[in-house]
Amino acid sequence: MEPPWFKNAAIYCIAVETFRDANADGWGDLAGLTEALGYLEELGVDCLWLEPFYPSPMRDNGYDVADHRGVHPRIGTLADFDHLIAEANRRGIAVLVDLVVNHTSVEHPWFRSARADPGSEYRDYYIWTDEPQAHREPNAMPTEQDSPWTYDEAAGRWYLHRFYAHEPDLNVANPRVRQEIRATMEFWLERGVTGFRVDASQFLVQKLAETGDSDPHRLLREMRAIVSRCRTDGVLLAEADVEIDQLQAFFGNDDEMHLLFNFYLDANLFLALARKRADPVSRILGQLPAVPRGGHWANFVRNQDELNLSHLSDEERDEVFEAFAPREQERIFGRGIRRRLPPMLEGDRRRIELVYSLLLSLPGVPVIGYGDELGMGDDLELAERYSVRTPMQWSPAANAGFSETTTEAPLRPVIARGPFAYERLNVEAQLADEHSLLRWFQRALRLRRERTEIGLGESRMLETGDPTVIAQLCERDRRGLLTIHNLSDEPRAVTLATFEPAGPPEELLADDDYAPVDGGRLELHPYGYRWVGWG
Ligand code: NOJ
Repeated sequence: MEPPWFKNAAIYCIAVETFRDANADGWGDLAGLTEALGYLEELGVDCLWLEPFYPSPMRDNGYDVADHRGVHPRIGTLADFDHLIAEANRRGIAVLVDLVVNHTSVEHPWFRSARADPGSEYRDYYIWTDEPQAHREPNAMPTEQDSPWTYDEAAGRWYLHRFYAHEPDLNVANPRVRQEIRATMEFWLERGVTGFRVDASQFLVQKLAETGDSDPHRLLREMRAIVSRCRTDGVLLAEADVEIDQLQAFFGNDDEMHLLFNFYLDANLFLALARKRADPVSRILGQLPAVPRGGHWANFVRNQDELNLSHLSDEERDEVFEAFAPREQERIFGRGIRRRLPPMLEGDRRRIELVYSLLLSLPGVPVIGYGDELGMGDDLELAERYSVRTPMQWSPAANAGFSETTTEAPLRPVIARGPFAYERLNVEAQLADEHSLLRWFQRALRLRRERTEIGLGESRMLETGDPTVIAQLCERDRRGLLTIHNLSDEPRAVTLATFEPAGPPEELLADDDYAPVDGGRLELHPYGYRWVGWG
C-alpha cells in the first residue's frame, strides 16, 4: 500500500485576515489569498491550513466561532471560498480548515438561546453546573482565567470553558452536538476541503471521559470515518497536547487522527538551541511513540500561539526562558514564549537556516507559519499572542503591501521598526535576492519534495559520537540521504561509523561549500548543516 500523500508534503498555515487584503478594507480576505496562490505554489507548499475565517467576534483570533458554516463578512463569502478551493486545487494545493468544536463563542446563536431559555433545545449543547467548586478541570489559559467555570446571570448557572470565559465548552457527549459536528465536517468537505485541523482534541476526549463514556476516543474515530467516506486523501491534523504516554491513543489504530502536532519535539528543539547541543532532540525522538502507517508527526517551529514549554521540566523551561525570553513581557501563560523564531535568534541567519533545515528533514510533516519563509519578526507591543500575528510583509509599500486601505486602519499594525521592519524585510525584496531566506526555502522545500527518502522512506538516527551533532539517514528505493546538523557555535568534524552510501555522495543543501565526505568523515561549520544524497 502506498504511503499517504501528506507524508511527502509541506503544510503552510495562514491566518486569512492578516495575509492579503484584496478589497482594501484593512482585513486580509479569501480573494487576497487566492491572488497569492502563485506565490505559495512557487514557494513549494503542498497544503494550506487556514485558521478560522468564520463569523466571529474575533476575541480569540477567530477561534471564538459564532457560525461554523459561514465566512466572516470582512474575510469574504462562501463563493470566494469555493473559488479559492478551485484555484488551489488547480495548482495541486490541498486546503485544510480549522474544526473548532470544543467550544463556541458566547455570541453563537446556540449559546444565546441556551443561556436565555432553560427550555431551549440548545441548553444541553453546553455544560452547566451549580457547584463549580466540585469540579477540578484546569483552564488552558492559567494566567488569564482563574477558573474554567463562569456564572451566567441569564441562565443562573455556571458554564464550563476550558479556554476564555467568552468561549463556552460544547457538550460533545450530546448526540445532537455530535450531529452538528458531522454536519459541519460534511459542509466543508462538500465544498472541497481535504480535511481539518482539529482544535483542542485532547479536551474533546477528556470531556467525554469525565462523563463516564467508556470509549471517549470514539468521537475521533467518527471524525475519521466522515473524512474517509468523503475522500481517499482526507487528512485530520490534530492538536493533542497531552502527556507523552497518551499521544499514541490519538492516532488510534490508524483510525483516529492522521497527524499530531509534535509539541514535544518543538519544546526540545528550543532546549537544544538554548544548550547549543543536539541531544535533547535525539533524546525526544527516541521517546516518541511509533506512528501508524497512515499517520505521522506534524513538526513545527513556531505556530500562531505561544511557544509551549509545558512539557519541559521546570529547570529546562527556565533555561529556554533565560536564553530566548529573558524579559517577562516575552513570556505568556507561565509556560510559553510569545516571540517568533528570528528575533529569538537575534536574526542570525545561520541559526535560522539550521532550525528550518532540521524541521524539513526530521521525521514528520513540516508545518510552516506564514512569514516564516521571510524570517518575519514579532511585535511585543501587541497583547498576548497577537505579537506573532502581524500582517504578512509583501513589499516596501504602505502597510507592507498587505493592504491598500487608505480609509481604515489595517486589522493589526505591520512591523515598521527595527531589523524586521517591512521596508527591508518583505517578499518583493527577497524574491529579487538569490541569497534571501525566501529563496533558500524555495530550494529546500523543492529538494524535500524531490528527495522522497525523507517523507516516504525509512529513517534512522546515526551515532555521531558528538552530543552537539545530530545525523539522520533516510533511504527509499536505493536512494539515500544523509542530513547532519551542528547545533554548537564551534566547528565540528565527525566520523560516522555506519556511513555506507550506495553511490557517489552529492552535496544537495548546506550552509556553505564543504570538502566532499571522506569515508564517513564530515566537517561542519558552527551551526552548519549538510544534506548529502546518493542514488
Ligand atoms: C488552540 C488554538 O491554537 C488557540 O489559538 C486557541 O486560543 C485555542 N485553541 C482555543 O480555541
